[in-house]
Amino acid sequence: MKQKKIIIGNWKMAPDSLREARALFQKIKEMSRKTRNIQTVICAPFIYLSELKALVTGHACALGAQNVSNEKNDAFTGEISSAQLKNMGINYVIVGHSERRAMGENNDLIAKKVVAISTNNLTAILCVGETVRDDSGDYISFIKTQILESLAGITHKNITRLVIAYEPLWSVGKHTKHIAKPEDVLEISILIKKILTDKFGKNIAEKVPVLYGGSVNQKNARDFLVEGGVAGLLVGRASLQVEIFTEIQKIANKI
Ligand code: PGA
Repeated sequence: MKQKKIIIGNWKMAPDSLREARALFQKIKEMSRKTRNIQTVICAPFIYLSELKALVTGHACALGAQNVSNEKNDAFTGEISSAQLKNMGINYVIVGHSERRAMGENNDLIAKKVVAISTNNLTAILCVGETVRDDSGDYISFIKTQILESLAGITHKNITRLVIAYEPLWSVGKHTKHIAKPEDVLEISILIKKILTDKFGKNIAEKVPVLYGGSVNQKNARDFLVEGGVAGLLVGRASLQVEIFTEIQKIANKI
């Protein structure tokens, strides 16, 4: 059976109101239900998850969180655990996003979060990516270290509950000057498969979808999926624009 493409929307700290979140989610869900070849995942702010969960019907559009604690049920004011997310019916968690790394999260903490996520039967969407890309090739060893350190605690069994999103920082967000080219993405998707194969073996590596994220829109989505050789997309800004995101869903569904 053909593997479904995974199209993830990362809403970040938006929208401002539950009313807007519900309206946006409804439209994305409607489009998801018309698709057969993609799995849509919306990673919404924590505060909207239970309301959005009540709108979910079927499996075409799943919900994810954008962060989680690495700890278990105990005294951690302001934190949310993997068990809480799981019991609420959430299936995915973004971990290691560059914006959280910029707030101080390092590979050690991310590794603990990956363990907490996967042992609670949630799927971790692990983000990796270099800050700059220069001719020295340092970005290759940088990405390798990120992956190996972030996956230091995951078991072979749980690695099937993992998605890796390649998000080069220089191509992410509204201040980016250059958007990655499909060939840049292809290079790293092959590299990530190689790193996983060397560490976990070919059978396991084959099962881990590698996605691309960074300034994805309706104009470049197809090229990333086809020429970039990735199994899906992690979409930031464009996931808040319903016409653009649903167009990306349609494009991915046709591939
Ligand atoms: P962007 O963000 O699509 O707005 O560049 C992607 C991300 O941060 O996941």
